Amino acid sequence: MEACPLTQARTSVLTPLHSRLSEQHSTMSGMIVKFSRSVSRAAPVLSRGIHSGKRAASTAVSKRKAERPPTSEDIYAREEKYGAHNYHPLPVALERGEGIYVWDVEGSRYYDFLSAYSAVNQGHCHPKIIAALTAQASKITLTSRAFYNDVLGAYAEYITNLFGYDKVLPMNTGVEGGETACKLARKWAYNVKGVPKNKAKIIFADGNFWGRTMAAISSSNDPSSYDGFGPFMPGFENVPYNDTAALEKALQDPNVAAFMVEPIQGEAGVVVPDHGYLTKVRELCTKYNVLWIADEVQTGLARTGRRLAVDHEEVRPDIVILGKALSGGVYPVSAVLCDDEIMLTIKPGEHGSTFGGNPVACQVAMAALEVMEKEKLAENAQKMGEILRSELNKLPKDIVTTVRGKGLLNAVVIKETKDYDAWKVCLRLRDNGLLAKPTHGDIIRLAPPLVIKEDELRECVDIIQKTILSF
Ligand SMILES: Cc1ncc(COP(=O)(O)O)c(C=O)c1O
Repeated sequence: MEACPLTQARTSVLTPLHSRLSEQHSTMSGMIVKFSRSVSRAAPVLSRGIHSGKRAASTAVSKRKAERPPTSEDIYAREEKYGAHNYHPLPVALERGEGIYVWDVEGSRYYDFLSAYSAVNQGHCHPKIIAALTAQASKITLTSRAFYNDVLGAYAEYITNLFGYDKVLPMNTGVEGGETACKLARKWAYNVKGVPKNKAKIIFADGNFWGRTMAAISSSNDPSSYDGFGPFMPGFENVPYNDTAALEKALQDPNVAAFMVEPIQGEAGVVVPDHGYLTKVRELCTKYNVLWIADEVQTGLARTGRRLAVDHEEVRPDIVILGKALSGGVYPVSAVLCDDEIMLTIKPGEHGSTFGGNPVACQVAMAALEVMEKEKLAENAQKMGEILRSELNKLPKDIVTTVRGKGLLNAVVIKETKDYDAWKVCLRLRDNGLLAKPTHGDIIRLAPPLVIKEDELRECVDIIQKTILSF
């Protein structure tokens, strides 16, 4: 996909354009209330909250707020005031995206090296996906599954043929895909494997992340996910990741229904298991009659250089969960794929979702998958990933201690000192025109849209190298 001519390209990669916001300022937890400057561009003004009800603004300052387009700082302050504080965003306020680029409200352009946590594999606002969305949105958007719609069957046929499974169960978010897979595994355990009622167990790997629902956090061993939210889901157990001896021990329990695992652990910091791990997981699950659930929500759909990350070892899970890039970041669409022996254990009325399988989602997902195939995103991710890692490996090891990943799902580990840490590196990357986000304090994930071309990638490498060396 071609990017449009740039409205405001950066000229010098190391000239901070964010002088309005010092690094120290941006890490402040308090509200940022100062309106630093006005801008001439037309931009939407959200005035409802300011003018309605008993909180209606009456001061001159508040009126000014409503009359001019909001600056980045206005946007941080409003979100901080009225939104829950369940995220800690990097200070940049985006209003537009196209391909590998995003623009902030002041018109500055950035390379997107997060891709909305790998949801935007096809690039921002891919024209074919947007066309599918708008065409269907003006026809019919939601029927619920109380009735048939004329798109779900076509989508189900397309996605099951593409991935080679009998059936698909459509949901919306990734975590709902995980919940669905767990429910399928429990039903299969009772109806097919013969596990006694309410005794089914699901095994997870330490370091897993599959979302924020009660079930998802019940399998987490990260206190920031689970602490303060107990009691937790029974019947969940953990083994260390990338440890097949521990897995084999756990699978010997006859009540185990499934082992759910990410082929590469994304949120844990792009943790890549040894080659052969997935093959052994397949062998062990088959040996002990346990379902293997592959959570490909982040790793799937070309991100790691293959259509699915399990394709690196040419192994077939019993259940595959997809999400994120299944819509190219346009719409929440997730899917669970498996064969009839598992899928048909769930009967009408036993599972579902008002929005799952709606016609817009189905059209968007088909378009997103077609783009992935036609534009050969997996091949490009594989090629670009190799260049990226080989260039990043040239960085001084006393700052970047590790470079790891597959395809375009990569991470660098930053050695923290009193002068810099991963957050500060990300702030300076932003100032130099590239957006990435730290995870777990010292890790920076580097995952651009998969439509990135070699010259663009090399420019990004240059930004990253110069930024790191500037510390
Ligand atoms: C591997 C994996 N599974 C599941 C999820 C949950 O997806 P969602 O946030 O769409 O619920 C995520 C989200 O980051 C993920 O990385």
